[in-house]
Amino acid sequence: MVESSVVAQGSTLPSAAVSPIFSAFRIGNCTLRNRVVMAPMTRQFAQDGVLAPSAVDYYRRRAAGGVGLILSEGIATSEIAAHSATIPDFLTGAARDMWRSVVEAVHQEGGLIMAQLWHTGLGRIVEQAKHPDQLSVGPVDQYLLPDNPHAQGGNNHPLGHAMTIEEIQATVEEYIVAAKHAQDIGFDGIELHAAHGYLIDQFFWDQCNRRTDQYGGDIINRTRFAVEIIRGIKQRCGEDFPVGLRFSQWKLPFLYAVKAFPDPAALAAFLFPLAEAGVDFLDASTRRYWEPAFEGSDLTLAGWAKKITGLPSMAVGSIGLAGPLDVADMLTEVRPDADLSRIAAMIERDEVDLVGVGRALLSNPDWANKVKAGDVADLAPFNQQAMMTHW
Ligand code: PHB
Repeated sequence: MVESSVVAQGSTLPSAAVSPIFSAFRIGNCTLRNRVVMAPMTRQFAQDGVLAPSAVDYYRRRAAGGVGLILSEGIATSEIAAHSATIPDFLTGAARDMWRSVVEAVHQEGGLIMAQLWHTGLGRIVEQAKHPDQLSVGPVDQYLLPDNPHAQGGNNHPLGHAMTIEEIQATVEEYIVAAKHAQDIGFDGIELHAAHGYLIDQFFWDQCNRRTDQYGGDIINRTRFAVEIIRGIKQRCGEDFPVGLRFSQWKLPFLYAVKAFPDPAALAAFLFPLAEAGVDFLDASTRRYWEPAFEGSDLTLAGWAKKITGLPSMAVGSIGLAGPLDVADMLTEVRPDADLSRIAAMIERDEVDLVGVGRALLSNPDWANKVKAGDVADLAPFNQQAMMTHW
């Protein structure tokens, strides 16, 4: 096999160490040219729900740079859903037209793009929102009660409004309408942001969801809101239209030590209803993709998600970055990681299927092509400038 390994060192084929990352992969009716996925990242360059025109080339560059699939920045499902006034949505023709230009640009470059649907619920930044006088909404009126051990220094979230059953059902419908807009615009699928303590996760997390009706209580009830959204989207958009789900152990605000699922059985009880409702892939959001999810096993959260459900699963969290990784500010430069053998091995042994790349792709739009070609010495570090510019 000397011959093939020589070929693999060439400039067009990836080196053996990273080649698993560059095999094609199928999700529903989509064929990804490789496993590299641009992770969803808030950029705050929209106004009145309309993306800045610079977004078209921003996304185009990552597709031209070889990414297989782009997960868009979070797209607000309603005005009250938006984190702040700089988040894009699908609520107007102008907003949808700009997204259509993005989708066309990505497709022209041979990439795929799915829309991440985002409702922040009680995690909305009220003072930066379009209508700060309006109450945020959630499963309850207060994210964490002041005496909750996770409520650092009391509850630093303003009071919101606990949704009635009718309001929950109207919010489910908003997700479905947003997914249908995504499909009509030409997106290749959607991802539900159901992580990090935002609205869907507020229903999931028992520390927040203190409802006593069918949307609170056991895990079947706490997943009901998400299940109704997933089922509704599948009904309206068709079974073939891929629906991904981003979930996480950690919660806002910066509650990185929270383990909402204390063991694999709890994770399974959570994932089964979602898988049964029709989720096509799981995006297991962590800050360090390699960390074991539970004691007693080296398996990662994305690895467990795949093992439990059999669904395609994406690892994400500091992929492509070497450190320092514990930076609290955006001023510290983070070095690129030239050694992708660990994530490649996870793909090779089928622990996970997809490689979610976030910050490294902000500094290196051509990250995928560079890694594939072995030009890793040219990778730029992540720094504040990458965060501030829409390039
Ligand atoms: C952020 O904008 O920093 C942000 C947005 C969504 C998340 C996490 C962080 O899920």
